[in-house]
Amino acid sequence: MRIVILEGSPNKNGSSNMLAEQFQKGATEAGHSVQIIDAAHANIHPCTGCIHCGYEGPCSQKDDMDEIRQKILEADMMVFVTPLYYYGMSAQLKTLIDRFCAFNSSIQRKHMKSALLTVAWNSDDWTFDALEAHYHTLVKYLNLKDQGMVLGKGCGSPSMTKQSKYLKMAYALGKEQVN
Ligand SMILES: Cc1cc2nc3c(=O)[nH]c(=O)nc-3n(C[C@H](O)[C@H](O)[C@H](O)COP(=O)(O)O)c2cc1C
Repeated sequence: MRIVILEGSPNKNGSSNMLAEQFQKGATEAGHSVQIIDAAHANIHPCTGCIHCGYEGPCSQKDDMDEIRQKILEADMMVFVTPLYYYGMSAQLKTLIDRFCAFNSSIQRKHMKSALLTVAWNSDDWTFDALEAHYHTLVKYLNLKDQGMVLGKGCGSPSMTKQSKYLKMAYALGKEQVN
């Protein structure tokens, strides 16, 4: 299947992208075609709420979202990748998701698969409660089929993440994907 990975960290070689890389490795080995979209470094502007799109139509803004929209709609699975920022997803990833507004029904009709890869400094058991709740709500609303989450607690820096079990978990999640 075709998988798009939506990366939301400003750190190109940071911990969340390390999980994304491992997921990509596993999924590629399993025969899937994987494309990475670096939302944090793409030219994506926040939704202006103008509703020119009517919730399904051309967006009034001309930026990288035209191309990203096409890539998402050609894919069978979306993987959300984000560092934990104030107990939610990063603004970079949220900015991309808000722009789903202009092709919301198209996403809902596709019944795409999805996954969440995330890292945080904190390692309390409640660290990801709010992000998990948001992700599950998006899954429900967008008619996604959740394939799993890797919640990297205590992954505050790349060196901490390298020593953690989460890289292997991200690889395994990629590898176990079936068409
Ligand atoms: C703006 C900002 C907000 C953060 N908020 C949290 C937080 O709420 N909880 C937490 O445990 N870590 C928080 N962190 C730490 C990051 O989640 C952590 O360092 C992570 O490894 C960064 O991932 P990256 O290397 O992929 O960018 C925050 C970091 C930044 C820069």
